[in-house]
Amino acid sequence: MRKKLVVGNWKMNMTRSQATAAIESLLLLIDPNTDVEVAICPTYLTLETVAHLLRRSHFHYGAQNVFWMPGGAFTGNVSASMLADAGCTFCIVGHSETRGRFGKLEVPESTLSYFSETNETVNLKLKALLYQSIHPILCVGETLAEREAETTDAVIYEQLKGALDGIEGVEFYNGVVAYEPVWAIGTGKTCDSAEASRVCGFIRRALTEIFDADAADSVRILYGGSVKGSNAADLFSQPDIDGGLVGGASLDADEFSRVVRGA
Ligand code: 13P
Repeated sequence: MRKKLVVGNWKMNMTRSQATAAIESLLLLIDPNTDVEVAICPTYLTLETVAHLLRRSHFHYGAQNVFWMPGGAFTGNVSASMLADAGCTFCIVGHSETRGRFGKLEVPESTLSYFSETNETVNLKLKALLYQSIHPILCVGETLAEREAETTDAVIYEQLKGALDGIEGVEFYNGVVAYEPVWAIGTGKTCDSAEASRVCGFIRRALTEIFDADAADSVRILYGGSVKGSNAADLFSQPDIDGGLVGGASLDADEFSRVVRGA
């Protein structure tokens, strides 16, 4: 039986004092005996603050990105061994914001290449994380144009196949896949729960083909994209949705605790 998982992706938000206030509130608001696994992914700079506050709690924490090389002259980057040393349980990989696939263009098109993570670099990052026993949260999802062209399933299959190339099913038992339709991220447009469940079911069938039934059955598949307190229970009660990857709503302790209760 897969345990429900709710992950707060704080993105580029929260100073150390804001993070402290948010975590202190969450520890009061979320029942420590909940059956739901909860994790927070803050920025690298607030990771240690969050880790310290959560040290005796049931919450996990993780990072929002990683570089695949083990160390060396890679200015501005952080390796998987450094994340392991910081006690990270999870790490997000292949988010549409690091792949440079924005729902609505918030940056000039000419700058998109700065962000452009590919299926190949996602694959290298996954391998680096698995080597350090950090559970990857692999994000996949289609843009609005891809959905309108009815290529959603094909796009997601290609993202999964490329990202998981050369990885064995047994290595990915604790892995997580997050279905995040790009058009639903930060837009307030949540994917209809039946459609989100259909795509998550498609992802599980693809994992069965890429790995095997046992591995596919153990991987948790999350939905992300405008999850909030009011829609969490509907989304998370769908048969193929094992929880959520939550952006905006994770910045507000009350709202995030409602999302966790929804799970
Ligand atoms: P929002 O919940 O703000 O739509 O963001 C979703 C997301 O990108 C989580 O990784």
